[in-house]
Amino acid sequence: MIGEAEKAAVIAALGSPTLTHGPRVRQFETDFAAFTGAERAVATSSCMASLHMAYLALGIEPGSEVIVAAQTHIATAHAAELCGATCVFVDCDKDGAIDVAQVESAICSRTRAIAIVHYAGFPVDIAALKRVAERHGVPIVEDCALALGTRFNGAHVGLHGDIGCFSFYPVKHITTGEGGMVISRRADLLDRVSRLRAFGIDRNIVSERALPGEYDAIELGLNYRMSEIAAAIGIEQLRRAPEFLERRRENFTLLREGLAGGDDLWPLHESQPVADVGVYCLVAMLSARLTRVRPQLMRALSGHGVGASVYYPRPVPAMSYYRHKYAYDLSRFPRAGLISSASIALPIGPHLDAADIRYMIETIPDAIQEALSA
Ligand SMILES: Cc1ncc(COP(=O)(O)O)c(C=O)c1O
Repeated sequence: MIGEAEKAAVIAALGSPTLTHGPRVRQFETDFAAFTGAERAVATSSCMASLHMAYLALGIEPGSEVIVAAQTHIATAHAAELCGATCVFVDCDKDGAIDVAQVESAICSRTRAIAIVHYAGFPVDIAALKRVAERHGVPIVEDCALALGTRFNGAHVGLHGDIGCFSFYPVKHITTGEGGMVISRRADLLDRVSRLRAFGIDRNIVSERALPGEYDAIELGLNYRMSEIAAAIGIEQLRRAPEFLERRRENFTLLREGLAGGDDLWPLHESQPVADVGVYCLVAMLSARLTRVRPQLMRALSGHGVGASVYYPRPVPAMSYYRHKYAYDLSRFPRAGLISSASIALPIGPHLDAADIRYMIETIPDAIQEALSA
């Protein structure tokens, strides 16, 4: 979904005097803040970078425990591990949202953050989670990589907890090639993230320096900045976000209706309203017999031109790094395990229209038959 406007914006950025941390990055931040209703936003090089800095800004360090959703992308956990923290994984409910009761049981004196993901764009019940977090004085990190456009009780996700992180990787709701964003209601956290993303120096914009080359490193930092070229794409993509999100909702609704009540394949999030959801994909659960032939099903779908995926291939504690480090009893994550092993994710992106979705609905039974008889 890269159009002429994005291409022209990149050419203009390449012809400008500033290729990084310049006016386009600042405009993209302002536009993103307006889009989400945040007071301020800080652009970064990826969601993983955003998460890493979010944890650092919250003071996560060796000895800290971070409660992490088992049903998420590895980035949510990796970023905490990079701070030297111990990840404490918690299972999800049947729709992939973190189990709030289990979060409360996992909190202890070493807990320094709770990291959640809005799975497939559907919001966690943040009101319930906040009650738990506030009772114990633990901050919440919202991984919003799959949830641009999702509102909970009228406010955009990322603004309910202490800090929210977004991704602009190519398959996300909008893209900058690679890129990310951080939003928060807490100015102290955003100030810290702004410094961390540029080596921990006291002034990170060239024009803010009294003299070129004059700056001081007041803390240990990173280089997690967004380039002007990426921001130029982001500004144009964000203009199109309302149209993209509407198409996603329409496609999701049509596909969900078309797959409802299937014996071998049926939609997760089967009845949730989507008016306030930046739906990312349609996660379809598979019967036991179809689960056994999931690779064949994905190949059959691909043969019909339908690009299915899996979100995510394993619960995070079942990924080798975490298995070796923590040796969790994986039976503690039955719902994340079921979604990982017995579902596929079907596309609903804005590159698809109603005719494409109808084609998918007609084609899926054929692909199922092919997979079962392969
Ligand atoms: C929930 C979640 N968090 C983080 C990421 C990582 O995003 P990025 O590639 O921008 O670092 C992803 C990528 O798919 C994701 O799904």
